[in-house]
Amino acid sequence: MIDSFPPNFLWGSATAAAQIEGAAHEDGKLDSIWDVFSRVPGAVANGDTPEVAVDHYHRMPEDVALMKRLGLDSYRFSTSWARVKPADGAINKAGLAFYSRLVDELLENGILPWLTLYHWDLPQAVQETGGWANRDTAYRFRDYATAVHDVLGDRVTHWTTFNEPFCSSLISYAAGEHAPGLQDPAAALAAVHHQHLGHGLATAALRELGAASAEPLQIGITLNLTTAIPNDPNDPVDLDAARRIDGLWNRMFIEPVVLGEYPADLLDDVAGLGLSEVILPGDLEIIHQPIDFLGVNYYHDDCVSGHPVERVTTVPTDRPYASPFVGSEYVSFPPRDLPHTAMDWEVNPDGLRALLVRLTLQYPTLPPMYVTENGASYEDVVSDDGRVHDPDRTTFIREHIAAVAEAILQGADVRGYFLWSLLDNFEWAWGFDKRFGIVHVDYDTQVRTIKDSGLAYAAIIAGALSPTP
Ligand code: FCB
Repeated sequence: MIDSFPPNFLWGSATAAAQIEGAAHEDGKLDSIWDVFSRVPGAVANGDTPEVAVDHYHRMPEDVALMKRLGLDSYRFSTSWARVKPADGAINKAGLAFYSRLVDELLENGILPWLTLYHWDLPQAVQETGGWANRDTAYRFRDYATAVHDVLGDRVTHWTTFNEPFCSSLISYAAGEHAPGLQDPAAALAAVHHQHLGHGLATAALRELGAASAEPLQIGITLNLTTAIPNDPNDPVDLDAARRIDGLWNRMFIEPVVLGEYPADLLDDVAGLGLSEVILPGDLEIIHQPIDFLGVNYYHDDCVSGHPVERVTTVPTDRPYASPFVGSEYVSFPPRDLPHTAMDWEVNPDGLRALLVRLTLQYPTLPPMYVTENGASYEDVVSDDGRVHDPDRTTFIREHIAAVAEAILQGADVRGYFLWSLLDNFEWAWGFDKRFGIVHVDYDTQVRTIKDSGLAYAAIIAGALSPTP
Protein backbone atom coordinates (compact mmCIF):
# COMPACT_ATOMS: atom_id res chain seq x y z
CA MET A 1 0.00 0.00 0.00
CA ILE A 2 2.77 2.44 0.94
CA ASP A 3 4.17 1.76 -2.57
CA SER A 4 1.33 3.69 -4.11
CA PHE A 5 2.58 7.00 -2.75
CA PRO A 6 4.59 9.00 -5.27
CA PRO A 7 8.32 9.15 -4.45
CA ASN A 8 8.23 12.81 -3.41
CA PHE A 9 5.01 12.53 -1.45
CA LEU A 10 5.17 15.09 1.34
CA TRP A 11 4.51 13.93 4.89
CA GLY A 12 3.70 16.72 7.28
CA SER A 13 1.79 18.00 10.22
CA ALA A 14 -0.14 21.21 10.71
CA THR A 15 -0.87 23.87 13.34
CA ALA A 16 -2.21 27.43 13.39
CA ALA A 17 -0.81 30.53 15.06
CA ALA A 18 -3.72 31.34 17.39
CA GLN A 19 -3.97 27.73 18.50
CA ILE A 20 -0.38 27.24 19.62
CA GLU A 21 1.68 30.40 19.89
CA GLY A 22 0.45 32.14 23.01
CA ALA A 23 2.41 35.37 23.63
CA ALA A 24 -0.83 37.02 22.65
CA HIS A 25 0.32 40.44 23.82
CA GLU A 26 4.08 40.17 23.55
CA ASP A 27 6.62 41.84 21.28
CA GLY A 28 4.05 44.19 19.84
CA LYS A 29 1.27 41.73 19.07
CA LEU A 30 -2.17 43.16 19.71
CA ASP A 31 -5.59 41.54 20.03
CA SER A 32 -6.84 39.34 17.25
CA ILE A 33 -10.56 38.67 16.98
CA TRP A 34 -9.96 35.36 18.77
CA ASP A 35 -8.38 37.13 21.75
CA VAL A 36 -11.42 39.36 21.99
CA PHE A 37 -14.01 36.65 21.31
CA SER A 38 -12.50 34.32 23.92
CA ARG A 39 -13.04 37.01 26.56
CA VAL A 40 -16.79 37.05 25.90
CA PRO A 41 -18.39 35.01 28.68
CA GLY A 42 -19.64 31.68 27.34
CA ALA A 43 -18.03 32.04 23.91
CA VAL A 44 -15.27 29.49 24.54
CA ALA A 45 -15.54 26.37 26.71
CA ASN A 46 -14.29 26.85 30.28
CA GLY A 47 -13.41 30.47 29.54
CA ASP A 48 -10.20 29.31 27.85
CA THR A 49 -8.22 31.86 25.84
CA PRO A 50 -5.31 31.74 23.38
CA GLU A 51 -3.27 34.04 25.67
CA VAL A 52 -0.67 31.36 26.47
CA ALA A 53 -1.95 28.45 24.34
CA VAL A 54 0.90 25.92 24.25
CA ASP A 55 3.59 28.57 24.50
CA HIS A 56 5.02 27.71 21.11
CA TYR A 57 6.26 31.29 20.75
CA HIS A 58 8.83 30.54 23.44
CA ARG A 59 9.31 26.83 22.78
CA MET A 60 9.62 26.90 19.02
CA PRO A 61 13.06 25.23 18.76
CA GLU A 62 11.88 22.40 21.03
CA ASP A 63 8.80 21.94 18.83
CA VAL A 64 10.88 21.88 15.64
CA ALA A 65 13.07 19.24 17.29
CA LEU A 66 9.92 17.17 17.83
CA MET A 67 9.06 17.50 14.13
CA LYS A 68 12.53 16.30 13.29
CA ARG A 69 12.15 13.30 15.60
CA LEU A 70 8.89 12.43 13.88
CA GLY A 71 10.60 12.60 10.49
CA LEU A 72 8.29 15.25 9.02
CA ASP A 73 9.12 16.47 5.51
CA SER A 74 7.07 19.62 5.95
CA TYR A 75 5.41 21.73 8.61
CA ARG A 76 2.23 23.66 7.88
CA PHE A 77 1.91 26.71 10.13
CA SER A 78 0.21 30.07 9.92
CA THR A 79 1.45 33.58 10.42
CA SER A 80 -0.70 35.81 12.58
CA TRP A 81 -1.82 39.02 10.89
CA ALA A 82 -2.32 40.48 14.38
CA ARG A 83 1.38 39.83 15.13
CA VAL A 84 2.72 41.02 11.78
CA LYS A 85 0.58 44.17 11.36
CA PRO A 86 -1.11 44.44 14.77
CA ALA A 87 -3.21 47.52 14.16
CA ASP A 88 -2.99 46.97 10.43
CA GLY A 89 -0.79 49.99 10.14
CA ALA A 90 2.92 49.72 10.71
CA ILE A 91 4.67 46.40 10.32
CA ASN A 92 5.75 44.82 13.59
CA LYS A 93 9.32 43.81 12.93
CA ALA A 94 9.58 41.81 16.16
CA GLY A 95 6.55 39.77 15.15
CA LEU A 96 7.91 38.99 11.71
CA ALA A 97 11.27 38.13 13.25
CA PHE A 98 9.63 35.25 15.10
CA TYR A 99 8.49 33.71 11.82
CA SER A 100 11.88 34.34 10.31
CA ARG A 101 13.51 32.37 13.16
CA LEU A 102 10.94 29.61 12.74
CA VAL A 103 11.64 29.33 9.01
CA ASP A 104 15.39 29.21 9.62
CA GLU A 105 14.97 26.55 12.28
CA LEU A 106 12.82 24.44 9.94
CA LEU A 107 15.24 24.75 7.04
CA GLU A 108 18.21 23.89 9.26
CA ASN A 109 16.37 20.72 10.18
CA GLY A 110 15.51 19.85 6.59
CA ILE A 111 11.78 20.59 7.02
CA LEU A 112 9.90 22.43 4.27
CA PRO A 113 7.99 25.46 5.62
CA TRP A 114 4.38 25.46 4.37
CA LEU A 115 3.00 28.87 5.25
CA THR A 116 -0.66 29.84 5.62
CA LEU A 117 -1.41 33.55 5.71
CA TYR A 118 -4.89 33.45 7.21
CA HIS A 119 -5.98 30.92 9.78
CA TRP A 120 -8.73 33.05 11.29
CA ASP A 121 -6.92 35.53 13.54
CA LEU A 122 -7.87 38.87 12.02
CA PRO A 123 -6.49 41.89 13.90
CA GLN A 124 -9.28 43.27 16.08
CA ALA A 125 -8.46 46.68 14.59
CA VAL A 126 -9.56 45.40 11.18
CA GLN A 127 -12.70 43.86 12.67
CA GLU A 128 -13.58 47.27 14.01
CA THR A 129 -13.71 48.58 10.46
CA GLY A 130 -16.17 45.84 9.49
CA GLY A 131 -13.89 42.81 9.21
CA TRP A 132 -14.53 40.60 6.21
CA ALA A 133 -17.94 42.13 5.62
CA ASN A 134 -16.00 45.20 4.45
CA ARG A 135 -14.55 44.91 0.94
CA ASP A 136 -11.53 46.95 1.95
CA THR A 137 -10.32 44.07 4.13
CA ALA A 138 -9.46 42.10 0.97
CA TYR A 139 -7.00 44.83 -0.02
CA ARG A 140 -5.57 45.01 3.48
CA PHE A 141 -5.06 41.26 3.35
CA ARG A 142 -3.07 41.62 0.16
CA ASP A 143 -0.86 44.24 1.83
CA TYR A 144 -0.32 41.97 4.83
CA ALA A 145 0.58 39.09 2.47
CA THR A 146 3.21 41.17 0.70
CA ALA A 147 4.63 42.34 4.05
CA VAL A 148 5.15 38.70 5.04
CA HIS A 149 6.66 37.94 1.65
CA ASP A 150 9.08 40.85 1.96
CA VAL A 151 10.70 39.13 4.94
CA LEU A 152 10.18 35.41 4.26
CA GLY A 153 9.99 35.30 0.47
CA ASP A 154 13.69 34.48 0.15
CA ARG A 155 13.17 31.19 2.04
CA VAL A 156 9.49 30.19 1.87
CA THR A 157 8.32 28.63 -1.39
CA HIS A 158 4.89 27.26 -0.39
CA TRP A 159 2.17 29.81 0.33
CA THR A 160 -1.47 29.25 1.23
CA THR A 161 -3.72 32.28 1.23
CA PHE A 162 -6.68 31.11 3.35
CA ASN A 163 -7.44 28.19 5.60
CA GLU A 164 -11.06 27.06 5.45
CA PRO A 165 -12.82 30.28 4.44
CA PHE A 166 -16.08 28.42 5.12
CA CYS A 167 -15.32 28.66 8.84
CA SER A 168 -14.09 32.24 8.81
CA SER A 169 -17.25 33.35 6.98
CA LEU A 170 -20.34 31.23 7.62
CA ILE A 171 -19.44 29.86 11.06
CA SER A 172 -18.05 33.21 12.17
CA TYR A 173 -20.54 35.68 10.70
CA ALA A 174 -23.76 33.63 10.44
CA ALA A 175 -23.64 30.94 13.11
CA GLY A 176 -21.85 33.13 15.66
CA GLU A 177 -19.86 30.13 16.88
CA HIS A 178 -16.46 31.52 15.91
CA ALA A 179 -14.97 34.98 16.21
CA PRO A 180 -16.26 37.60 15.67
CA GLY A 181 -19.44 35.80 16.76
CA LEU A 182 -21.96 37.49 14.49
CA GLN A 183 -25.31 36.12 13.36
CA ASP A 184 -25.82 38.04 10.18
CA PRO A 185 -26.31 35.92 7.02
CA ALA A 186 -25.76 38.82 4.62
CA ALA A 187 -22.49 39.76 6.35
CA ALA A 188 -21.46 36.10 6.16
CA LEU A 189 -21.96 35.96 2.40
CA ALA A 190 -20.12 39.25 1.99
CA ALA A 191 -17.31 37.72 4.06
CA VAL A 192 -17.21 34.72 1.70
CA HIS A 193 -16.84 36.96 -1.32
CA HIS A 194 -14.31 39.31 0.24
CA GLN A 195 -12.13 36.40 1.35
CA HIS A 196 -12.24 35.05 -2.21
CA LEU A 197 -11.24 38.51 -3.42
CA GLY A 198 -8.42 38.66 -0.86
CA HIS A 199 -7.24 35.27 -2.11
CA GLY A 200 -7.14 36.50 -5.71
CA LEU A 201 -5.45 39.79 -4.88
CA ALA A 202 -2.81 38.17 -2.68
CA THR A 203 -2.16 35.36 -5.16
CA ALA A 204 -1.55 37.86 -7.95
CA ALA A 205 0.69 40.01 -5.74
CA LEU A 206 2.74 37.05 -4.50
CA ARG A 207 3.05 35.71 -8.02
CA GLU A 208 4.51 39.00 -9.14
CA LEU A 209 6.88 39.26 -6.19
CA GLY A 210 7.96 35.65 -6.62
CA ALA A 211 8.74 36.05 -10.31
CA ALA A 212 12.29 37.03 -9.44
CA SER A 213 12.86 34.03 -7.13
CA ALA A 214 15.15 31.21 -8.19
CA GLU A 215 12.44 28.70 -7.38
CA PRO A 216 8.91 29.60 -8.50
CA LEU A 217 6.45 30.04 -5.65
CA GLN A 218 3.79 27.41 -5.08
CA ILE A 219 0.59 29.25 -4.19
CA GLY A 220 -2.74 27.74 -3.22
CA ILE A 221 -5.71 27.78 -0.90
CA THR A 222 -7.00 25.29 1.67
CA LEU A 223 -10.70 24.43 1.75
CA ASN A 224 -12.59 22.19 4.15
CA LEU A 225 -14.81 20.01 2.08
CA THR A 226 -17.49 17.49 2.84
CA THR A 227 -19.64 15.07 0.96
CA ALA A 228 -23.30 15.86 1.54
CA ILE A 229 -24.98 12.47 1.55
CA PRO A 230 -28.79 12.41 1.18
CA ASN A 231 -30.29 10.55 4.10
CA ASP A 232 -32.69 8.76 1.78
CA PRO A 233 -31.20 8.69 -1.71
CA ASN A 234 -34.64 8.01 -3.17
CA ASP A 235 -36.31 10.98 -1.49
CA PRO A 236 -36.26 14.12 -3.68
CA VAL A 237 -36.52 16.32 -0.58
CA ASP A 238 -33.35 14.81 0.91
CA LEU A 239 -31.61 14.97 -2.45
CA ASP A 240 -32.38 18.67 -2.72
CA ALA A 241 -31.15 19.33 0.81
CA ALA A 242 -27.88 17.57 -0.05
CA ARG A 243 -27.56 19.67 -3.19
CA ARG A 244 -28.04 22.86 -1.18
CA ILE A 245 -25.46 21.90 1.42
CA ASP A 246 -23.01 20.85 -1.28
CA GLY A 247 -23.51 24.25 -2.91
CA LEU A 248 -23.17 26.25 0.28
CA TRP A 249 -20.28 24.34 1.87
CA ASN A 250 -18.26 23.06 -1.11
CA ARG A 251 -19.06 24.57 -4.48
CA MET A 252 -19.40 28.18 -3.23
CA PHE A 253 -15.74 27.92 -2.21
CA ILE A 254 -14.20 25.80 -4.98
CA GLU A 255 -15.85 27.18 -8.06
CA PRO A 256 -15.04 30.91 -7.94
CA VAL A 257 -11.37 30.00 -7.41
CA VAL A 258 -11.09 27.10 -9.83
CA LEU A 259 -13.73 27.96 -12.45
CA GLY A 260 -14.15 31.72 -12.02
CA GLU A 261 -17.86 31.57 -11.25
CA TYR A 262 -20.33 31.00 -8.44
CA PRO A 263 -22.64 28.03 -8.92
CA ALA A 264 -25.93 29.24 -10.44
CA ASP A 265 -28.09 27.08 -8.13
CA LEU A 266 -26.27 28.50 -5.08
CA LEU A 267 -26.91 32.07 -6.24
CA ASP A 268 -30.59 31.16 -6.50
CA ASP A 269 -30.63 29.50 -3.08
CA VAL A 270 -29.21 32.58 -1.36
CA ALA A 271 -30.98 35.18 -3.51
CA GLY A 272 -32.09 38.07 -1.35
CA LEU A 273 -29.17 37.81 1.03
CA GLY A 274 -26.95 40.22 -0.86
CA LEU A 275 -24.29 37.97 -2.36
CA SER A 276 -24.92 39.03 -5.95
CA GLU A 277 -24.76 42.69 -4.87
CA VAL A 278 -21.25 42.45 -3.40
CA ILE A 279 -19.80 40.79 -6.52
CA LEU A 280 -18.47 43.74 -8.53
CA PRO A 281 -17.52 43.62 -12.21
CA GLY A 282 -14.02 42.16 -12.58
CA ASP A 283 -14.00 40.43 -9.20
CA LEU A 284 -14.31 36.92 -10.57
CA GLU A 285 -11.38 37.49 -12.92
CA ILE A 286 -9.27 38.54 -9.92
CA ILE A 287 -10.43 35.54 -7.90
CA HIS A 288 -9.82 33.09 -10.72
CA GLN A 289 -6.00 33.19 -10.57
CA PRO A 290 -4.04 30.10 -11.54
CA ILE A 291 -3.12 28.21 -8.37
CA ASP A 292 -0.48 25.55 -7.94
CA PHE A 293 -2.28 23.36 -5.44
CA LEU A 294 -5.57 22.89 -3.67
CA GLY A 295 -5.33 22.07 0.03
CA VAL A 296 -8.12 19.75 1.14
CA ASN A 297 -9.04 19.51 4.80
CA TYR A 298 -11.17 16.50 5.55
CA TYR A 299 -12.68 15.37 8.82
CA HIS A 300 -16.05 13.83 8.01
CA ASP A 301 -18.96 13.71 5.61
CA ASP A 302 -22.42 15.06 6.35
CA CYS A 303 -25.58 13.03 6.05
CA VAL A 304 -28.33 15.50 5.14
CA SER A 305 -32.08 15.39 5.27
CA GLY A 306 -34.55 17.96 4.01
CA HIS A 307 -37.18 16.96 6.51
CA PRO A 308 -37.78 18.60 9.85
CA VAL A 309 -35.58 17.24 12.59
CA GLU A 310 -38.64 15.73 14.27
CA ARG A 311 -38.68 13.06 11.60
CA VAL A 312 -35.25 11.94 12.66
CA THR A 313 -35.03 9.90 15.81
CA THR A 314 -31.84 11.28 17.32
CA VAL A 315 -30.11 14.47 16.37
CA PRO A 316 -27.10 15.09 18.60
CA THR A 317 -26.16 18.39 17.02
CA ASP A 318 -27.86 20.62 14.56
CA ARG A 319 -25.69 22.79 12.36
CA PRO A 320 -27.02 26.29 12.87
CA TYR A 321 -24.73 27.76 10.25
CA ALA A 322 -26.93 26.15 7.59
CA SER A 323 -30.15 27.53 8.96
CA PRO A 324 -29.99 31.19 7.98
CA PHE A 325 -29.72 30.09 4.38
CA VAL A 326 -31.90 27.03 4.10
CA GLY A 327 -34.13 27.27 7.16
CA SER A 328 -33.48 25.12 10.22
CA GLU A 329 -36.66 23.20 9.47
CA TYR A 330 -35.36 22.53 6.00
CA VAL A 331 -32.12 20.76 6.66
CA SER A 332 -31.10 18.33 9.36
CA PHE A 333 -28.15 16.05 9.92
CA PRO A 334 -29.21 12.57 10.96
CA PRO A 335 -26.43 10.64 12.69
CA ARG A 336 -25.20 7.50 10.97
CA ASP A 337 -24.18 4.24 12.49
CA LEU A 338 -20.43 4.86 12.44
CA PRO A 339 -17.81 5.25 15.16
CA HIS A 340 -17.43 8.83 16.42
CA THR A 341 -14.50 10.85 17.77
CA ALA A 342 -14.55 13.01 20.89
CA MET A 343 -15.88 15.84 18.69
CA ASP A 344 -18.82 13.57 17.85
CA TRP A 345 -17.55 13.53 14.28
CA GLU A 346 -18.03 10.37 12.21
CA VAL A 347 -15.01 8.21 11.49
CA ASN A 348 -15.35 7.45 7.80
CA PRO A 349 -12.01 7.03 5.98
CA ASP A 350 -13.64 5.98 2.74
CA GLY A 351 -15.24 9.43 2.64
CA LEU A 352 -11.75 10.91 2.14
CA ARG A 353 -11.07 8.58 -0.79
CA ALA A 354 -14.45 9.38 -2.30
CA LEU A 355 -13.98 13.13 -1.90
CA LEU A 356 -10.53 13.17 -3.54
CA VAL A 357 -11.77 11.06 -6.44
CA ARG A 358 -14.89 13.15 -6.85
CA LEU A 359 -12.88 16.39 -6.99
CA THR A 360 -10.64 14.83 -9.63
CA LEU A 361 -13.57 13.82 -11.80
CA GLN A 362 -15.71 16.91 -11.28
CA TYR A 363 -13.00 19.53 -11.85
CA PRO A 364 -10.66 18.51 -14.65
CA THR A 365 -8.68 21.76 -14.31
CA LEU A 366 -7.96 21.21 -10.62
CA PRO A 367 -4.28 21.59 -9.68
CA PRO A 368 -2.55 18.87 -7.60
CA MET A 369 -4.11 18.33 -4.21
CA TYR A 370 -2.57 18.08 -0.76
CA VAL A 371 -4.53 16.85 2.23
CA THR A 372 -3.64 19.79 4.42
CA GLU A 373 -5.59 18.62 7.47
CA ASN A 374 -6.98 15.33 8.71
CA GLY A 375 -6.97 14.03 12.23
CA ALA A 376 -9.04 13.17 15.27
CA SER A 377 -9.73 14.21 18.83
CA TYR A 378 -9.87 11.59 21.54
CA GLU A 379 -9.82 11.79 25.31
CA ASP A 380 -6.14 11.12 25.85
CA VAL A 381 -4.48 10.54 29.19
CA VAL A 382 -0.87 10.13 30.22
CA SER A 383 -0.58 6.58 31.58
CA ASP A 384 1.41 5.45 34.59
CA ASP A 385 4.16 4.39 32.22
CA GLY A 386 4.46 8.05 31.17
CA ARG A 387 3.12 7.37 27.69
CA VAL A 388 -0.07 8.27 25.89
CA HIS A 389 -1.74 5.19 24.46
CA ASP A 390 -4.19 6.40 21.83
CA PRO A 391 -4.96 3.37 19.67
CA ASP A 392 -8.13 4.93 18.23
CA ARG A 393 -6.14 7.84 16.79
CA THR A 394 -3.50 5.47 15.39
CA THR A 395 -6.20 3.48 13.62
CA PHE A 396 -7.82 6.70 12.40
CA ILE A 397 -4.53 7.91 10.91
CA ARG A 398 -3.64 4.60 9.29
CA GLU A 399 -7.07 4.17 7.74
CA HIS A 400 -7.18 7.69 6.37
CA ILE A 401 -3.69 7.44 4.89
CA ALA A 402 -4.70 4.13 3.31
CA ALA A 403 -7.74 5.96 1.88
CA VAL A 404 -5.43 8.58 0.32
CA ALA A 405 -3.35 5.80 -1.24
CA GLU A 406 -6.51 4.28 -2.64
CA ALA A 407 -7.58 7.65 -4.08
CA ILE A 408 -4.22 7.97 -5.81
CA LEU A 409 -4.66 4.50 -7.29
CA GLN A 410 -8.03 5.68 -8.57
CA GLY A 411 -6.49 8.65 -10.34
CA ALA A 412 -6.46 11.50 -7.80
CA ASP A 413 -3.30 13.64 -7.99
CA VAL A 414 -2.53 13.94 -4.27
CA ARG A 415 1.01 15.04 -3.43
CA GLY A 416 1.05 15.17 0.36
CA TYR A 417 -0.67 14.62 3.69
CA PHE A 418 -0.54 16.89 6.75
CA LEU A 419 -1.82 15.47 9.97
CA TRP A 420 -3.85 17.73 12.24
CA SER A 421 -2.28 18.39 14.60
CA LEU A 422 1.31 18.34 15.71
CA LEU A 423 0.44 19.45 19.24
CA ASP A 424 -2.63 19.44 21.44
CA ASN A 425 -3.85 23.02 21.28
CA PHE A 426 -6.53 25.68 21.62
CA GLU A 427 -9.41 24.16 19.66
CA TRP A 428 -11.32 27.40 19.01
CA ALA A 429 -14.74 27.43 20.72
CA TRP A 430 -13.85 24.16 22.46
CA GLY A 431 -10.84 25.74 24.13
CA PHE A 432 -8.44 23.15 25.50
CA ASP A 433 -11.22 20.58 25.90
CA LYS A 434 -10.47 18.68 22.70
CA ARG A 435 -7.06 17.18 22.00
CA PHE A 436 -6.05 16.61 18.36
CA GLY A 437 -2.26 16.37 18.78
CA ILE A 438 0.07 13.50 17.98
CA VAL A 439 2.10 15.15 20.72
CA HIS A 440 0.41 15.48 24.10
CA VAL A 441 0.76 18.79 25.93
CA ASP A 442 0.35 19.08 29.69
CA TYR A 443 -1.33 22.47 29.90
CA ASP A 444 -0.01 23.15 33.41
CA THR A 445 3.64 22.41 32.74
CA GLN A 446 3.76 22.65 28.91
CA VAL A 447 5.59 19.30 28.89
CA ARG A 448 5.33 17.59 25.51
CA THR A 449 5.01 13.80 25.14
CA ILE A 450 4.84 12.07 21.76
CA LYS A 451 1.71 9.93 21.77
CA ASP A 452 1.70 6.37 20.47
CA SER A 453 -0.09 7.70 17.38
CA GLY A 454 2.84 10.07 16.79
CA LEU A 455 5.25 7.16 16.95
CA ALA A 456 3.03 5.25 14.52
CA TYR A 457 2.91 8.22 12.14
CA ALA A 458 6.72 8.46 12.29
CA ALA A 459 6.92 4.75 11.43
CA ILE A 460 4.59 5.22 8.46
CA ILE A 461 6.69 8.12 7.21
CA ALA A 462 9.84 6.02 7.60
CA GLY A 463 8.20 3.21 5.63
CA ALA A 464 8.36 0.87 8.63
CA LEU A 465 4.62 0.60 9.18
CA SER A 466 2.00 -0.02 6.55
CA PRO A 467 -0.95 2.34 6.77
CA THR A 468 -3.30 -0.58 6.19
CA PRO A 469 -4.21 -1.68 9.72
C1 FCB B 1 -10.20 22.70 11.24
C2 FCB B 1 -9.32 23.89 11.54
C3 FCB B 1 -8.21 23.58 12.51
C4 FCB B 1 -8.68 22.68 13.62
C5 FCB B 1 -9.35 21.45 13.06
C6 FCB B 1 -9.80 20.46 14.11
O1 FCB B 1 -11.46 23.14 10.86
O2 FCB B 1 -8.73 24.38 10.36
O3 FCB B 1 -7.71 24.80 12.99
O4 FCB B 1 -9.51 23.37 14.47
O5 FCB B 1 -10.45 21.83 12.30
